[in-house]
Amino acid sequence: NGFFTYDPGFMSTASCESKITFIDGGKGILLHRGYPIDQLAEHSDYLETCYLLLKGELPNAEQKQQFVQAVKDNSAVAPSIAKLIQSFPKEAHPMAVLCSAVAGLAAVYNDDTDIAKAEDRDTTAYRLIGQMPTLAAMTFKHLKGEDFVEPNKALDYAENYLNMTFGNSAASKVSPTLAKAMDRIFLLHADHEQNASTSTVRLSGSSGTNPFAAIAAGISTLWGPAHGGANEAVLNMLEEIGSVENIDTYVEKAKDKADPFRLMGFGHRVYKNFDPRAKVMKQAADEVLSELGLENDPLLAIAKKLEKIALEDEYFIQKKLYPNVDFYSGIIMKAIGIPTEMFTVIFATGRAVGWYAHWDEMVSQPYKIGRPRQRYTGYAKRDYPE
Ligand code: CMC
Repeated sequence: NGFFTYDPGFMSTASCESKITFIDGGKGILLHRGYPIDQLAEHSDYLETCYLLLKGELPNAEQKQQFVQAVKDNSAVAPSIAKLIQSFPKEAHPMAVLCSAVAGLAAVYNDDTDIAKAEDRDTTAYRLIGQMPTLAAMTFKHLKGEDFVEPNKALDYAENYLNMTFGNSAASKVSPTLAKAMDRIFLLHADHEQNASTSTVRLSGSSGTNPFAAIAAGISTLWGPAHGGANEAVLNMLEEIGSVENIDTYVEKAKDKADPFRLMGFGHRVYKNFDPRAKVMKQAADEVLSELGLENDPLLAIAKKLEKIALEDEYFIQKKLYPNVDFYSGIIMKAIGIPTEMFTVIFATGRAVGWYAHWDEMVSQPYKIGRPRQRYTGYAKRDYPE
């Protein structure tokens, strides 16, 4: 006892073996089942990438069609979950609402989820991937005080999400440019190896709990600003900076060790060269902003200048701090018209498949409950005062 390997922040500990995602942070490489993320972003789409992450191979045309249909057939949310969402105050953070709603799916489906059966696990995947955008849109509608919009099976995944978010009926019109950008945001967030939320889902799932309960634990973890909450924090920071003249002050604050302020959207635990998702996201941001005619947006001007200054600053170069995926995804979502407090909900929607693929990989083979030990630094035994 007391001689365990001590690795705060899991800087050098592999918690599992996995065949899903490979990252070489030094070289800026991210592969899903061997396929580079930039190739998937260019040639694939979100649901095909979901299939790849879950099944290990790209689907043929028939497999893809069946998968897409199964996801669509499971996209409607139970009335009890709709009521649950409506019961929260409108001011509640959408991540809190989403987390509760997904935990609520455990209540809806617990009795027909046998995690030992591959068929039940497939059905759970369809329910999760199908209902995440519906739930995400419902948290938005609740926040706005508007009626929920039903999913529409005639629309593709991202179109349907945008329609349920911004439409006022299941048949409203969605811009193809925005739908493509949205699909890419989901795809670029689909999985990222053993990050904090995925590790949480694995650890939680290792007790044999209901998979929706394990995913809800992942959503809670993603919420924090050091993880998925960074996309929201980036926009809040850009608004706080307010104008390009103030950038230098904030860069100096970020460099000051005595000041807890950090430049949100910069740095990554694993990527110490560049974040390959950020490269694709930056390109998507440029496309969306030019198609929407928003190149002169004042917030974007701050983002561009900040990116330039930070990339040329000795502190950021020396510490290998580059803009990460959240820096650019926040800019795109803002351009699409998604309110800042919804950004992490969208990250969670895209990431649901990654969490699920890792949970499924774990439970479909022999596994042990995760049970870390500690290095005890408290009192030695002492007697209760008489
Ligand atoms: N601004 C200023 N300084 C920074 C920043 C930043 N954004 N990030 C790291 N540093 C400094 C930090 O102060 C430390 O300095 P020193 O060596 O002098 O103590 C050094 O760089 C290393 O930082 P760390 O916190 O030890 O590194 P980490 O690997 O534990 O943290 C991180 C990674 C992403 C949490 C951190 O870079 C950060 O807080 N970034 C801002 C939040 C953010 O954008 N998060 C999104 C991550 S990507 C999406 C996701 O995976 O969810």
